[in-house]
Amino acid sequence: MPDKKSRPQKRRRHSIITFEMIRLDRTSKEPLHEQLYRQIRDELKSGRFGDGSSRLPSSRTLATDRGISRSTVRLALSRLHAEGYLRSEPGSGTFVANLLPEMFLTADQPKTYHAIQGSVRISDRAKAIPDRRVGNQFDLGATGAGPGVSLVASIPAVDEFPITVWERLRTQVLAKKGVNLLRYSSNRGDADLRKAIAAYLCDFRAARCHPDQIVIVAGMQQAMLLSAMTVLNPGEVAWIEDPCYQQARRVLTLAGVKITPKPIDNQGIVIARSPKELTPRIIYVTPSHQFPLGVTMSFQRRTAVLDFARAHNAFIFEDDYDAEFRFTGPPLPSLQGIDNSGRVIYAGTVSKILCPALRLGYIVAPEPLVDSLVKIRSAMDQHSSPIDQATLARFITEGFFLSHIKRMRKIYAERRDFFIKQFNELLGDRFTLQVPEAGLNIVAWLKREEDFEMIKRITSDIGVRPSALSFFCIQAKLKPAFVFGFAAWTPTQIRESLTKLASALSNRSNDLHHGRQSR
Ligand SMILES: Cc1ncc(COP(=O)(O)O)c(C=O)c1O
Repeated sequence: MPDKKSRPQKRRRHSIITFEMIRLDRTSKEPLHEQLYRQIRDELKSGRFGDGSSRLPSSRTLATDRGISRSTVRLALSRLHAEGYLRSEPGSGTFVANLLPEMFLTADQPKTYHAIQGSVRISDRAKAIPDRRVGNQFDLGATGAGPGVSLVASIPAVDEFPITVWERLRTQVLAKKGVNLLRYSSNRGDADLRKAIAAYLCDFRAARCHPDQIVIVAGMQQAMLLSAMTVLNPGEVAWIEDPCYQQARRVLTLAGVKITPKPIDNQGIVIARSPKELTPRIIYVTPSHQFPLGVTMSFQRRTAVLDFARAHNAFIFEDDYDAEFRFTGPPLPSLQGIDNSGRVIYAGTVSKILCPALRLGYIVAPEPLVDSLVKIRSAMDQHSSPIDQATLARFITEGFFLSHIKRMRKIYAERRDFFIKQFNELLGDRFTLQVPEAGLNIVAWLKREEDFEMIKRITSDIGVRPSALSFFCIQAKLKPAFVFGFAAWTPTQIRESLTKLASALSNRSNDLHHGRQSR
């Protein structure tokens, strides 16, 4: 029991904060309760009232003093309560909390930072990834895939993405499924999405599959990594196209796989092999539209690859990244659709159809592989965002997916024709275009091989950045060429960039002609 003497003393220590500093601006866009909340919070954060004995004036007093309504005061105080700045003592009033929330949020700043002395040991796995880029050269957002007109290959027109529709569907799925979309969810992927994708692939890619064969993944790279980890042991052999999609090479190396590059001819991957070449466990191909050369794999080659895989107990990884954008006629059916022996692991991505930022893709796996793929996914990162998956499911089932593809196919066809015409007019004396039937990029072969280094330098100087074809080669020795993207830019932008390139090249030629050497 506290003795009688100490009680009045304790009461006296309860000073009432007057909050003289509060200035409310009735013309501001910030609501009054927000202003009040913010100013009281900042005052409390100053630390002057942190001994737990400071009491707040009653809401009536605060309201009268400031000439505002009590409900405005209550709103501000209830938020301060909820965040832990205030505590109530029944019968005594509202006090400043003993420990302010900042205490629990802000770790003590270390006084000094000690850098590791000497060299840091990096794993062989990281070192093995074949990539000579450093620093932010890895960063797609910081390099050519960011904003600006760069004519970088394979970039879709993200400014045509129907953001308003997407946001509406997202709000609707959140309203309907609520907290269910905030929990951990299936490693296989959203059931509605798997159903919608299976239906789409059967109807439009002539795939033969059911939703239980679908695993939703975070894009093509993850599809490759999961597939390689599921069917290959470290050190076993994967065949990949040469030249190839660089990420395929990097991802397979990350999976610890030994890579055998296979050349491309005018029918697709060449599967003939020398006696010393080891049998592959997996063959990575892009049959619809070989990246980067643009060849569509012939029917004959498709059956040959399937026969080879069956005969050697290998799997085929079919990267069907942009089959939707074919400009000369109907697409050939997917390899998966003509596979009668469960050898094809088919994978697609929304990176080209919609946008790469969503990081969503799908695997159609032969049934015996599904559980192992899912097991590895669960050990990797569990699953993709349930909110995005549910939104995509609605986007597909409500017809927006198909109508977006149709619209984009038309836009890309126009841009492609425009690019070809402008390119031939402006740069036809230096390059020969190899126009593919599909896809978002075009290879331009140099007419004079000796121009290569100069063109490479100039493109990088002026910010028009087609990739050198050699960048995609492993062992292949191809004539010099550049791979241009055309899809992400309007005709005006395409014309501007090509004009810029053409005049930079002709200025350079004039300089050389007049003996002026700029570098
Ligand atoms: C051959 C190929 N596959 C797949 C992709 C897309 O992969 P992701 O789904 O990981 O964005 C690209 C992107 O340029 C590509 O060129």
